[in-house]
Amino acid sequence: MKTIKNATVVGLGQMGITLARLLMKQNYNVAVWNRTKQKADVLVKEGATFLSNVSDAINASNIIIICVLDYAATKDILFNKLVTDGLAGKTIIQLTTGSPEDARELETWANKHGAHYIDGAIQVAPEQMARPDTTIFVSGKKNAFDFSEAVLKIFGGNIKYLGEKVSAAAAMDLASLSYLYGSLLGFFHAVSISEAEGFPVDLLGSIIREVTPGFTEFMQYEAGVIQSGNFAITQSPLSISVEATERILQSSKAYSINTEVAELSASFFKRAQVAGYEKEELASLIKIFRS
Ligand SMILES: NC(=O)c1ccc[n+]([C@@H]2O[C@H](COP(=O)([O-])OP(=O)(O)OC[C@H]3O[C@@H](n4cnc5c(N)ncnc54)[C@H](OP(=O)(O)O)[C@@H]3O)[C@@H](O)[C@H]2O)c1
Repeated sequence: MKTIKNATVVGLGQMGITLARLLMKQNYNVAVWNRTKQKADVLVKEGATFLSNVSDAINASNIIIICVLDYAATKDILFNKLVTDGLAGKTIIQLTTGSPEDARELETWANKHGAHYIDGAIQVAPEQMARPDTTIFVSGKKNAFDFSEAVLKIFGGNIKYLGEKVSAAAAMDLASLSYLYGSLLGFFHAVSISEAEGFPVDLLGSIIREVTPGFTEFMQYEAGVIQSGNFAITQSPLSISVEATERILQSSKAYSINTEVAELSASFFKRAQVAGYEKEELASLIKIFRS
C-alpha cells in the first residue's frame, strides 16, 4: 500500500517554490502558505494546496518547512499569525538563513509548544538543489533530525548533520560564507592583476577553477594542524607566505591597482613574523587571529 506523505511549505520565494516542487515530485501532498497569495498560483496548478491561514497550513502536515527571507519574517509569521495549539508533535525544518542566536531562540520557542525543531542552512542556489552534491547544514536534536532526514534528502544529497547544538548549522553558514567572501576579495584582487597585465579575465576564471581543489586540500590539511595544536613545519613554512604577500603588495603598487586586500594579507603575515611564528607551519597564523 502506498503511504501518504504530507508536508507543508511556508514561504514561496525562489527557494520555497523549489522546495515545494521537489516534494511534489516525490509524491508528497504539499500544503503551502505565502504572505502574497499570487505566488502560490503556479504551485496550485501543479497540485499543491494553498491555505490562506498559516495555522491551517501548519495543521495540514506533521512536517513543516519554513523558508522565508529572514528570521524577522519567520518570527512575524510564527509569533504573530499562528495559532500554536496544533504544534505539539510536529517537526519544523527551518531553512531560512539566520544567526546562531536566531536558531537557539526558535528551538526554545518550538520546544515550548511541543514541536521538534531542526535548523538548516542551504549552501546553494535554487537551481542547484536536489543534486548529489547539494550541501545543506543542519543541526538540532537527534530525534528531530531522524524525523526530518527523509525530507532533507529530497532537497540535497549532502546533508551535513552537525549535531544536537542547534546553533551549529547557522554558525557553519557564517563560517562558509566568511570563507567565500574572503576568497571573493582575493578573486577581485586577482582580476585587478589580470587586467593590469592585460591577461584575459575569463582565462583567469578557468585557471582559478583548476588550482582551487589543490588549495582547498591544503586548507583542510592546515585545519588539521590547527586542531592538533602542533605547529611544527610539515608542509609550508609561514615565512614563504610572509614573502609572497609582501611580493603581491609591492607588485600591486607597481601596477597602480587597488592595494587594500594586498595590504591586509601582508599585514597579517608581517604580524605573525614579528610575533616569531616565521619558522612554524603556515597554520600558526591562527595565533594572530586568536590574539
Ligand atoms: N535563493 C537563494 O539562492 C538561496 C540560497 C541559500 C539560502 N537561501 C535562503 O532561503 C531563504 C529564502 O530565500 P529566497 O531566495 O526564497 O527569498 P525570496 O525569493 O526573496 O523570498 C522571500 C520570501 O519571504 C517572504 N517574506 C518576506 N518577508 C516576510 C514577512 N514579513 N512575512 C511573511 N513572509 C515574508 C516572502 O513573501 P512574499 O512573497 O509575500 O514577499 C517570500 O516568500 C533566505 O533565508 C535565504 O537566505 C536562499
